[in-house]
Amino acid sequence: MTSITTKKRTNFADSLQYAGYLAVAKTRAKVLKVFTLVVPMPSPILLVGKNACNELCDLFIKEGRTNVFIVTDAVLNKLGVPEKVNNYLEQNNIRYQIYDGITPDPTSKVIEDGLRQSVNAGCDVVLAIGGGSVIDAAKMIAMCQGNNCQPKQLIGLFKAKKPCLPLYCIPTTAGTGSEATIGAVVSDDETHQKSIAIDTKMVPLAAAIDPTIMQGMPPHITADTGIDVLTHALEAWMSVNASADTDGYAASAVETVMHYLPIAYKDGSDLKAREEMGVAAHHGGLALNKAGLGYVHAIAHQLGAYYGTPHGRANAIVLPYVLELNRKASEKRLAILARKTGVVKDSQDSDAEIADYFIAQVNTLLKTIGISPIVRDMQASDFDHMAKAAAKEVRDTYAVPAYMEGSDIKNILIKIKTASEKASHDKLVSD
Ligand SMILES: [Fe+2]
Repeated sequence: MTSITTKKRTNFADSLQYAGYLAVAKTRAKVLKVFTLVVPMPSPILLVGKNACNELCDLFIKEGRTNVFIVTDAVLNKLGVPEKVNNYLEQNNIRYQIYDGITPDPTSKVIEDGLRQSVNAGCDVVLAIGGGSVIDAAKMIAMCQGNNCQPKQLIGLFKAKKPCLPLYCIPTTAGTGSEATIGAVVSDDETHQKSIAIDTKMVPLAAAIDPTIMQGMPPHITADTGIDVLTHALEAWMSVNASADTDGYAASAVETVMHYLPIAYKDGSDLKAREEMGVAAHHGGLALNKAGLGYVHAIAHQLGAYYGTPHGRANAIVLPYVLELNRKASEKRLAILARKTGVVKDSQDSDAEIADYFIAQVNTLLKTIGISPIVRDMQASDFDHMAKAAAKEVRDTYAVPAYMEGSDIKNILIKIKTASEKASHDKLVSD
């Protein structure tokens, strides 16, 4: 692990403070590594294909579950996305109750409302049908019902004493991979500050990747969520806590996204591309479970918190800057990834040249799928706080290949603001 700061530290106090930051960060990264080695990491049964939703229902029907709590959001419910499942449950005389109150970045209150309804209806299984927010909320509802507690009591590491209510997931986007991960994000009711509950007990028993459920996703959401998959895989690949296990999932996800995301973006009804992207999202989730994430997510989370930028879009905007700054520290790993995933074939070029080529290919992908660099209302006066929060997130949570200083993160934010203003101006002129 190295420092990749672009700034010369000019005084002793700065140097001492940065040394302290590095020491804490590296120690935490080692603790995370031990954690992933000693704690068994469950993974859900994965069902893939046009019949996967029904096969998923068969699993809990065979277990004798008779009363399903379906967690979704109002838009999906209005579009009739859960109907395929509802019809199958009715055919099998299984009762169900739908809770469609999940909002983006669900708060404790949203989860508590769902929990109350599930308990009152005497549901004995939770089924999430939705994107990352829906799945996170369903995890919390199932955990709270299984532990007879409220969501706030589960925030932090391994707070649950008992298993969650049996939990099954049908992702409707190919992005977060939340159906495979050990975390759920909960927002505060008033401040909307995000907290995370981490527990291996919240991993669903099974997940269904059904391409017919995903085919209605509009192109811009396909693009944003697809880049979230790519970012999970890249950050897990570049993590110093990566292993053969996580590398396999990460490389598979990168290869799939580079090939199939442009196809799914261009033609949402291409079921092969939808299915491949769904599996890639799942693999990205399995990779990040053990290897963690990095600066792209840490900075993207700030864009989400301050300016409401959707998560995948924020990752897409930040990704090129972090890849560029990380290139030196990660060129060997990026070159291995480029060869492994077929981004380069039989190249005799140096690792540095191949890493450059790989980064260029990622940038080309971002253009192909129409990622806009516009972040509305960015204020330079926010950047110090944002940089500090991103640096803290990395120090406390991730095992990155190289550490930035606050000034490097601030420079990235300045570049994002400049690019955003230019793109807004160009758009205005062309309109
Ligand atoms: Fe993400």
